Amino acid sequence: MSDIDRRDFIRTTTLTGVGLALGSKEALAGRPGRDHAAASAVAQETELFRAPPLETVRVGFVGVGHQGSSHVTNFLHIDGVEITAICDISPERVAAAQKQVTDAGRPLPAAYDRGPFDYVRLCESDDVDLVFTATPWRFHAPVCVTAMEHGKHAATEVPMAVTIDELWQMVETAERTRRHCVMMENCCYDRTEMMILNMVRQNIFGELLHAECGYLHDLRELKLTDFYEGRWRVEHSIHRNGDLYPTHGLGPVAQWLDVNRGNQFEYVVSMASPGRGLNRWAAEHVGPDSVEARQRYALGDVVNTLLRTRRGQTILLTHDTNSPRPYSRRILLQGTHGLVRKYPDERIHIEGRSAAHRWEELRTYRDEFDHPIWRALEEQSRGAGHGGMDFIEDYRLVQCLRKGDPMDMDVYDGAAWSAISELSELSIAQRSAPQDVPDFTRGAWRTRPRLGIVETG
Ligand SMILES: NC(=O)c1ccc[n+]([C@@H]2O[C@H](COP(=O)([O-])OP(=O)(O)OC[C@H]3O[C@@H](n4cnc5c(N)ncnc54)[C@H](O)[C@@H]3O)[C@@H](O)[C@H]2O)c1
Repeated sequence: MSDIDRRDFIRTTTLTGVGLALGSKEALAGRPGRDHAAASAVAQETELFRAPPLETVRVGFVGVGHQGSSHVTNFLHIDGVEITAICDISPERVAAAQKQVTDAGRPLPAAYDRGPFDYVRLCESDDVDLVFTATPWRFHAPVCVTAMEHGKHAATEVPMAVTIDELWQMVETAERTRRHCVMMENCCYDRTEMMILNMVRQNIFGELLHAECGYLHDLRELKLTDFYEGRWRVEHSIHRNGDLYPTHGLGPVAQWLDVNRGNQFEYVVSMASPGRGLNRWAAEHVGPDSVEARQRYALGDVVNTLLRTRRGQTILLTHDTNSPRPYSRRILLQGTHGLVRKYPDERIHIEGRSAAHRWEELRTYRDEFDHPIWRALEEQSRGAGHGGMDFIEDYRLVQCLRKGDPMDMDVYDGAAWSAISELSELSIAQRSAPQDVPDFTRGAWRTRPRLGIVETG
């Protein structure tokens, strides 16, 4: 495919989705209005889902651009892994990822570079146990569903999918095929977020009342240049007005608040500001008469969403990828006994420990509350993507598959966290009308065990 062909292809698939690529009526199941309660008993089981342990995890990667190739590097440093297949629409990227593997002294992985649906052949292969996709968002659901239909476990970059319809397909396919489908939310493995989880489990903040989080990252240049293959990312800004990328902030917060494990997101309301950033940046950097400057973008620059949980807690979630600003996930967690915050600095105040009305530096709590997995993997994760957290998440995925353990984040978590995107779009389109969050667990959230403080070994 030429660059122009690829861009046209991305444009079409962003608008229409790629559901038909799944090739079966079955794969298109899960539409709203179906009786999901009757779909499967897996969600109702009292134990979290476990798959039989794998001695070696044979991985096939689909999409080896910026993030996919970084995962390839991580997997080359984890014991018990073989990278057996690489798929991308760009043959050059397939070759580069193959070279990453052979340069590490490992056997050459098979190449799948015959176009946008060649991942189907990879999923059919007998040499793969886990299909890991880091493709543009519209491909996450088709790749994962196809992988599971062929008996493979699936892992996908964030968000798990774009629409609630796709999320139901993924939940139902995981249940029917008894395969894992994991959304790889690396921010759940950030050292500070994991330390906060450890503190929450030790009841340092008391009863949790309110959280704030988000994804505030100036992506104007990346969206409006050729950084992303075929400029896939800006297509979402052109056509959608909502929180396009909710899970980096929401994932850790959901774990602190036991969402899907004793608690649930109940409903959301959203509002969007005017959208100015992309036009302004394009006029200045591409030219006032450029296509990019004259384009109409649906996305508001600042999108705020309020979520309410079944326990009555509130979460303020912000999405801003079009403004000049330093990176932030704007973390705040308030409990009855105190609060913690992150971005731009990390501060804490705990009643009885901190001086009244004063912040303390969070790092002074590190020795007491650092998460054990970070203590154990600090050296190994040094230099890996996003401050090392990407290595820890990949390590945990492999560890769970090799031990036959439940995932830290399972298909229900990925679905609940990702569903906020379409719900925010619907709320904004209806003058901030509240939108109920689907219960992908069909009631099992009441008894599913909370995420513990996992260790290595
Ligand atoms: N967790 C994080 O911190 C983080 C960071 C960056 C990106 N991501 C996610 O990773 C994913 C990829 O983002 P990126 O920045 O690497 O984008 P990218 O454009 O650099 O990479 C996407 C790759 O997918 C390939 N591709 C596109 N369609 C394909 C298809 N049908 N079959 C096979 N390959 C296909 C492209 O050729 C490209 O190599 C996105 O879901 C993004 O949200 C996550």
